[in-house]
Amino acid sequence: MKRIRIIFLYGIIFACQNDKNIPLPVNSEGTNGSTTPVTPPPTTNVVCHPDTVYFKQKILPLIVSNCAMSGCHDAISKKDGVILTDYTNIIKEVNTKNPTSSELYTSLMETGEDRMPPPPMAAFSNENIAIVLTWIKQGAKNNSCEASGTACITTNMSYAKDITPILQASCTGCHSGTKPQGSIDLSTYANVYKYALNGKLYGSVAHLSGYIAMPSASVSISSCEISKIKSWIDSGSKNN
Ligand code: HEC
Repeated sequence: MKRIRIIFLYGIIFACQNDKNIPLPVNSEGTNGSTTPVTPPPTTNVVCHPDTVYFKQKILPLIVSNCAMSGCHDAISKKDGVILTDYTNIIKEVNTKNPTSSELYTSLMETGEDRMPPPPMAAFSNENIAIVLTWIKQGAKNNSCEASGTACITTNMSYAKDITPILQASCTGCHSGTKPQGSIDLSTYANVYKYALNGKLYGSVAHLSGYIAMPSASVSISSCEISKIKSWIDSGSKNN
C-alpha cells in the first residue's frame, strides 16, 4: 500500500514538472503569442537585381520625398489618417492580392483634386507610377539590396549627372515649388551650392550631429549617394 502511494506521488510530481516544460502554444501570428503583426526586417546583403524594385532603395525615398512632407502624410499631419513615412504604415495602403486596387497606386492615377500628390504639386511620372506598381506586384516586400562591390563610383562627380538625380529622387519633393519645406529650395544649382558651402547639405544627409537629419531621422540616402555628395563638395561643388 505504502509503495503504491509513493508511486502515485511521483506520478503527480512528474506530471507537474512536465506541465511546466510544455512549450507555449504557437499561434499563426508568430511565436510571441501577440496579435501584432511582426514587421519582417529588411533582407540586407542581397546584391541589387535589376528587375526587382527594392523598398529601401527605391520606394521609401520616393514616397517620403513626395508624400511625407509636413501638412501631408508625415506622422504629425497624417492627412486623411494616412502616414507614409515607414514600411508598416505604407503597406496599409497596399493590396498585394489585387495590386491595381491598392490606394497607394490608385491615388497616383486619379485626376483633379483627388490625385496624389495633389495639384499644384507635380504628379508622379509614368515611370515612377510603374515602379510603385511593380513593387506591389512583387509582393510589396520590406526588401533592401546592396550594389555589388565596384558599383559605387565617387570620382569626377558631375552636378548634372550625379548630384541632381539624387536630389530629385530623395529631396526636391519637399525642397522645391512655391512653399519648399524649411524654406529650402534645392531645385537650382545656386541654392544647392549655398547649402554645400555652409556644410548643411552634407551634414544633413550624413546625419551628423548639429544638423537636421535628411530625408528624415529614420530615412537615409544610401552610403554610396552620401559619398558622391561628399566627393562633389570636396572638389569644389562645381556646376559641372
Ligand atoms: C519629407 C520632406 C523632406 C524631405 C524628403 C527632405 N527634407 Fe530637408 N528638410 C525638410 C524640413 C521640413 C526641413 C526643416 C526642418 C526644420 O527646420 O526643423 C528640412 C531641412 C533641411 C536642411 C537644413 C538642415 C539644417 O541642419 O539646418 C537641409 C540642408 C535639407 N533639408 C536638405 C535635404 C536633402 C539634401 C534632402 C534629400 C536627401 C532632404 N532635405 C529631404 C523636409 C524634407
